[in-house]
Amino acid sequence: MHKKIAVLPGDGIGPEVMAEALRVLQAVAHEFGHYFEFAQGLVGGAAYDATGEHFPAVTVELCRSSDAILFGSVGGPVAEASQDKWRNCEANSVLALRKTFSFNANIRPVRVYESLREMCPLRSEVIGDGIDIVFVRELIGDIYFGEHKRFVENGLRCATDVAEYNEEQVASVARQAFALAQVRRKKVTSVDKANVLSTSKLWREVVTEVAAEFPEIELEHMLVDNCAMQIIKKPTQFDVIVTANLFGDILSDAAAILPGSLGLLPSAGLNAEGFGYYEPSGGSAPDIMGQGIANPIAQILSAAMMLKTSFGLVREAMAIEQAVEKTLVDGFRTADIYNDNGRKVTTREMADAVIARLRA
Ligand code: IPM
Ligand code: MG
Repeated sequence: MHKKIAVLPGDGIGPEVMAEALRVLQAVAHEFGHYFEFAQGLVGGAAYDATGEHFPAVTVELCRSSDAILFGSVGGPVAEASQDKWRNCEANSVLALRKTFSFNANIRPVRVYESLREMCPLRSEVIGDGIDIVFVRELIGDIYFGEHKRFVENGLRCATDVAEYNEEQVASVARQAFALAQVRRKKVTSVDKANVLSTSKLWREVVTEVAAEFPEIELEHMLVDNCAMQIIKKPTQFDVIVTANLFGDILSDAAAILPGSLGLLPSAGLNAEGFGYYEPSGGSAPDIMGQGIANPIAQILSAAMMLKTSFGLVREAMAIEQAVEKTLVDGFRTADIYNDNGRKVTTREMADAVIARLRA
């Protein structure tokens, strides 16, 4: 199979972990007889340095002409957020990417690896037989993309952000969540704030309607504040969680610490045509950039998600996932998941260990 992949490493640790993910993809291509063409593009602060824009037209075109997008991370140090280079960097790059290609469904799996059980901040009896949740977050609507306004009224500085959804937006992401639950444990938890918000009342109504198309799936509704609590109290109750953009942003980060590190979590952003972009759930981590110690697993697993979801290469994706799991079982640990036992390794060494197990 020949596929063209738009590779957008971005900022911070993005380029370091991306380089390792590409090596893993090369190994897969070699093992399984595929050809992956890596078309490198600039995004984020890196693009700003070169072009004065965070998501330049050439990068947009590169993405358009590719079969999938592999994204690193964007953004700079919080302390430098007011510099031109970093001002609105995330909004101008990753949010623009999502909007440009209508990536409306964000798939964020969270699972606790048995071999990293001790890294989970929850007690062993709460982890039980294992935590395995997939968030399906709506990605191009809600308060993120409504009007953002600052103004002065009665001499006071004021601001508003408009949250808006239409029924099609909700139905589309709900369908993706139900379809996903069908190949999992057949349960969908729809999360909203229907006791207060109009958008949430619409959300609940539409999700309930869509559920009728999927009679074998159990649907429950949960208020977002309760869900935040339940993710910590009893995470094993969840299979697929579907929710609006802002709630999904927050809840998926809360859950992301359960495996022990953000550096383990891949994600996908998909549109209705099946085109997708894949990125680690964590950010650019400027505090550890350039040291060669970042965990490449999130980026490597994002590449695996791409193979499976965009290219239908299920065996190849599984080979990567199993190689990662074996690497963790064998005790390889980057700094973020190291706690005195196991073997502390660099970004490169972690990827080497994955590639060795992939070939075995
Ligand atoms: C995420 C990030 C982004 C978001 C930021 C960088 C704009 O937090 O992908 O979750 O809020 O969607
Ligand atoms: Mg976030």
